Amino acid sequence: MAIPVIDFSKLSGEERANVMAQLHNGCEEWGFFQLVNHGIPEELLERVKKVSSECYKLEREEKFKTSTPVKLLNELVENKSHTKIENVDWEDVFLLSDDAIESEWPLETPEFRETMTEYRAELKKLAVKVMEVMDENLGLPKGCIRQAFNGGEDGDINAFFGTKVSHYPPCPQPEMVNGLRAHTDAGGVILLFQDDQVNGLQILKDGQWIDVQPIKNSIVINTGDQIEVLSNGKYKSVWHRVLALPTGNRRSIASFYNPSYKATIAPAQQLLEIQPEELKQDYPKFVFGDYMSVYTDQKFLPKEPRFQAVKAK
Ligand code: OGA
Ligand code: NI
Repeated sequence: MAIPVIDFSKLSGEERANVMAQLHNGCEEWGFFQLVNHGIPEELLERVKKVSSECYKLEREEKFKTSTPVKLLNELVENKSHTKIENVDWEDVFLLSDDAIESEWPLETPEFRETMTEYRAELKKLAVKVMEVMDENLGLPKGCIRQAFNGGEDGDINAFFGTKVSHYPPCPQPEMVNGLRAHTDAGGVILLFQDDQVNGLQILKDGQWIDVQPIKNSIVINTGDQIEVLSNGKYKSVWHRVLALPTGNRRSIASFYNPSYKATIAPAQQLLEIQPEELKQDYPKFVFGDYMSVYTDQKFLPKEPRFQAVKAK
């Protein structure tokens, strides 16, 4: 079993209806799918891989050796303990955002900032296209999801577009720690540029963990908790995790188009109106910042109590 692979270039051709149906199925049945021919220049993707790997080698690798997961694992091995580590991830991470200040960028890697700025602008455009596909497939007015993330019709606040650059270095005891613990994503639409070769990302599908197969220069799309709420449960956020592996150094670059912290999120009115009584879901209306306060503490737990917690606010 493999997650759907969808040729995004065919969205503008005579196969449009078919591709729209594939995208709907990807959202509704899988929560994860891969786009090929997505329009991001290969040449740019090659540069992104190059600067990310260079940055890891130059500015991150040495620091990872003294990081918390490495220390914890060393301690357990010294104590001959076989207890699995459940409170940290075997992952090196740094975050980029539109308003990142100078000191937040890795500055020792030539062309990192320039390349990633160009990449993020392209990915943001792709995110908007994907959200418009979701609008249409859900029967919502064009721009509806984007508008909700940007503060409604007045659109006076800005959605958050972030990028998380991760590496999952080889792990000597991969059975004792997770690369990234299982979770659903908090936000809106996530666009992942994962390693060509090293696997490790898995999603939970019908009670089984299945691999998100690496495909060179594809972009993996998944939907977060906010799309689940907006779609009134039609597009559910899906559990996923990253395994720690004994060899390879997996690179993955996740970009997320999320609501502004000030945006109010609720099921789209149009969907509530058409929902038959027996299928009515009970999602709350809340301010996204409040959701994130809950998520910070509960990321690796089921999402339903998070919805309940913000409902009560
Ligand atoms: C995440 C995530 C997957 C990956 O950052 O939320 O699921 O492959 N990342 O790094
Ligand atoms: Ni995730």
